Amino acid sequence: MTELTAHSSEQDAESGAERAAARVRDGATKAFYLKTFGCQMNVYDSESMMDALAADGYVATDAIEAADLVILNTCHIREKAAEKVYSDLGRIRDIKSERRKAGKGTVITVAGCVAQAEGAEIVRRQPAVDLVVGPQSYHKLGDLISRAAASKTSIIETEFATPEKFETLPDKPRKAGSPSAFLTVQEGCDKFCTFCVVPYTRGQEFSRPVAQILSEARRLTDGGACEITLLGQNVNAYHGAASDGAQLSLAGLVTELAKIDGLQRIRYMTSHPRDMDDDLIAAHRDIPQMMPYLHLPVQSGSDAVLAAMNRKHTAREYIDLIARVRAARPDIALSSDFIVGFPGETDADFEATMALVREVQFAQSFSFKYSTRSGTPAAALENQVPEDVKSHRLLTLQALLENQQVAFNAAAVGRTLPVLFERTGREPGTLVGRTPYLQLIHADGSPSLVGKTVPVTVTAYRQMSLTGSVDTVIAAA
Ligand code: 5AD
Ligand code: SF4
Repeated sequence: MTELTAHSSEQDAESGAERAAARVRDGATKAFYLKTFGCQMNVYDSESMMDALAADGYVATDAIEAADLVILNTCHIREKAAEKVYSDLGRIRDIKSERRKAGKGTVITVAGCVAQAEGAEIVRRQPAVDLVVGPQSYHKLGDLISRAAASKTSIIETEFATPEKFETLPDKPRKAGSPSAFLTVQEGCDKFCTFCVVPYTRGQEFSRPVAQILSEARRLTDGGACEITLLGQNVNAYHGAASDGAQLSLAGLVTELAKIDGLQRIRYMTSHPRDMDDDLIAAHRDIPQMMPYLHLPVQSGSDAVLAAMNRKHTAREYIDLIARVRAARPDIALSSDFIVGFPGETDADFEATMALVREVQFAQSFSFKYSTRSGTPAAALENQVPEDVKSHRLLTLQALLENQQVAFNAAAVGRTLPVLFERTGREPGTLVGRTPYLQLIHADGSPSLVGKTVPVTVTAYRQMSLTGSVDTVIAAA
C-alpha cells in the first residue's frame, strides 16, 4: 500500500472552523491534532477517530502547539516508519512541557500498529505518552482519553475486539461531499507471510457484515461519494455474512454495491494472489462499476524466495493468474508490491524478480528493501542480505518499474478517458482527478466539475501524472 501522511488540516477547512477556533481560544472547546502514517486503512481509521472526537465536542487543529490532544496514528510495517514515531514523540514531549508551563494539559496518544505491536514499550521509551491504543479499540477512544487525562499513569489498551469496533464507531459520511471515499470491509490477516507484522498488529482476518457495509456505502453516496475504494489487508479474502445467513465473497459484495444509485466506481485493495477467485476476475469483466485497476502484490519473482516468504504460490502461478485477469479485462492496469533483499535472496533470485516484472508489465508499483521486524519468522533467518546489496537491487528494480509506469502513462496520450474530478488544483481554474486506471490527471475547468465524471483528452504525461484537456463546453459548465 502507498505510504502517506495526512493530518487534520482538511477537516479544519470545513465550515464552522473559524467559530470553532474562537471557542478553542476561549478555552470552551478542546482541540486535537492528528497525524496519520502508513496505509489507507490508517487513513480510514483516522477519519473514524475524527468523527468520534467531533461528536465529543473536539475540534481539529493544524497547530500542534494549540492541541489539548495529540494523536499519532502509526505504522509498523517497516522499521523506518516505526522509528519516525519516536522522533516525533520527542518533539511533542517538548511541546507538552512548554504548554504545561502555561498551565495547559496535553494528552499524548499513540494509536495504530506501533501501539498494538509495542504497547508498554512505547511508554518506556517515551514516558510523556499518556495513552497507547491499538486499532481494535478505537470505539473506546473518548473514554480512554478522559481516563488518560485524569490519570497520573499511562494507559495501554491493546485488546482485540474488531466486531465491536465497527459496531460502535459512528457510521456516517466522512468529509461530506468528497467524491472518492474509503470503506474498510475487512481487517486483519491469517496469511502469515514470514516478513510481515500485520497478522500480529491487526489480528485475525475479520469481515464486516454485508448490511453494515451497504448502509455505510449508501451514506457515503448520499454524502456525495461516487467512487468507493473497499479496504482490507487481505480484501479479496472477504467473506461477510449476508442478512439471509449466506456468506458473500468480495465478488458478491461488489455485485450488491453496484446496485447502489450514484456509485459509479468501485475499487479494492490490497489483494493476495491466492484469494483471486474466478468470480472476482469475472466481476472485472461483467460489472461496469469495477474499475480496470488491480493491486496484486507478488513481492518476488523467485520461487525459492516466495516459498521462504510463505506466499504459497509460484512465480508461474502468478503470471498465469495475471493472464486470466487480462483475458477478462484486457485493458486492466496492474500494480504490485516488491521486497528486495529478503534473507537468502541471491543474484539469481533477484534476476527472477526482474524477469517477472519484464513479463507482466506493471502500470504502477511499490518496492521496498526488506526490513527486519522482530517477532516475525524471517527476522530469525541467518542469511540476511547486506544493506548495500539491498540498496543496489532496489535502485535496479525501481528503474525498471519507473520505465514501465512512464510507458503506461505515455500510452494514454491522445486517448479520451472518463475522469472523475476529485478536487480543485492549486492554481485557480485547475482540477485534479483520476482516470479509470487510477492515474492522477490535471486539467483546466470550472470547480463545478468536482464530483463529476467527464471525458478528458490526455495531452501530456509524466511518471506520476497526466495532463488533459476538457471539452471547452463542458469545462465552462
Ligand atoms: N520489509 C519490507 N517491506 C515489507 N512489506 C511488508 N513487510 C515488510 C518488511 N518487513 C511490504 C510488502 C507489503 C507492503 C504493504 O509492505 O511489500 O505488500
Ligand atoms: Fe502481511 Fe502477507 Fe498478510 Fe499481506 S498477506 S498483510 S504481506 S501477512
